[in-house]
Amino acid sequence: MKVEDLVVRYGKVTAVRDVSFTVEDGEFVSLLGPSGCGKTTTLRCIAGLEASSAGVIRIGEEIVAADGLEVPPEKRGINMVFQSYAVWPHMSVFENVAYGLRTRREPREQIEAKVGEALSTVGLEGYAKRYGTELSGGQQQRVALARAIVTSPRLLLFDEPLSNLDAGLRERMRYELVELQRRLGKTSLYVTHDQSEAMLMSDRIILMKDGEMVQMGSPRDLYDRPASRFAAEFIGNANLVTGEIRRADQRRAEVVLEGGIVLEGGFAWPDHARQSGPVLVCVRSESIERVPEGTTGVNCLDAVVETVSFLGATISCVLRVGTLGLRADLAARNPPEPGSAIRVRIDPEAVTLISEH
Ligand SMILES: Nc1ncnc2c1ncn2[C@@H]1O[C@H](COP(=O)(O)OP(=O)(O)OP(=O)(O)O)[C@@H](O)[C@H]1O
Ligand SMILES: [Mg+2]
Repeated sequence: MKVEDLVVRYGKVTAVRDVSFTVEDGEFVSLLGPSGCGKTTTLRCIAGLEASSAGVIRIGEEIVAADGLEVPPEKRGINMVFQSYAVWPHMSVFENVAYGLRTRREPREQIEAKVGEALSTVGLEGYAKRYGTELSGGQQQRVALARAIVTSPRLLLFDEPLSNLDAGLRERMRYELVELQRRLGKTSLYVTHDQSEAMLMSDRIILMKDGEMVQMGSPRDLYDRPASRFAAEFIGNANLVTGEIRRADQRRAEVVLEGGIVLEGGFAWPDHARQSGPVLVCVRSESIERVPEGTTGVNCLDAVVETVSFLGATISCVLRVGTLGLRADLAARNPPEPGSAIRVRIDPEAVTLISEH
């Protein structure tokens, strides 16, 4: 599936601006971003539920939307799962799932076999005769999923399908959904505003802001090398400090932070590499580790522990390093006392220099 230079305008509002990306066959890609950034609009254009103002959309090799061309949704070979389950309450589970096959006038035995298989795939064997009203939220979402896969679409589209479920069930369904997608090898595009959901489920993430794509990459890429303040703050816990480059090659640089502390780190993106000037420095809170007193080397610093919060596996501390306050997640074994002086090291690989400042 391929989107090229997609633009969607509603009157004066541009909801989607020059969005371009590809989802490879069998890949699971997420559109991630805050409320109103254009995720649903992008998805609805691909589904054919919304007309684009400009751009080209291909599903497989087929152009489904372009200037003057709009293939109707039912002819696109896609299925969509929404936040609201949209399970018809007056129909049995079987009829809900069979609907798409019936509209194609497939033979009865074939419909029965396919529905049976889809229900077992989503773990709903034995529920065929129940009515929509007799199901829990999680079960309704499984019905919606069975309905989406039963017609063997070329592409599955998901719009926040888990956000109506309670936290525990949502967590379980994330793993189930991903496992199901891997098993079926279905090309999938998934919309969410939840960064941990996108991180856990996706092969690649497209980060969006104000209708535009701001970064695209594997969950690891986005986490380790955020290319902007927005990306660093939206994904994971980041300490963001301004600094000035003192020395640099293509990948690494030495930066003097506000307050005079010197850190070594890597550029977010090779084309961000610079020889001098101000940068924003992102230090992930879990990349700060305690080392024995007197340890020397790159990015070893003296710190004073200001606060300590116990989180179970880790402790969350606020450290004072010179005039800087840094949040650090340290191992919970032998936690430092508040007020004590400790030595820490920050892995240079986990220090990211962002051009924006
Ligand atoms: N039919 C419409 N008419 C006018 N503006 C619209 C319409 N649909 C969406 N918008 C606007 O387009 C922008 C993008 O909306 P969209 O629904 O795509 O956001 P989203 O990223 O899915 O947000 P959320 O996480 O809240 O679902 C928003 O500013 C929204 O107000
Ligand atoms: Mg939305």
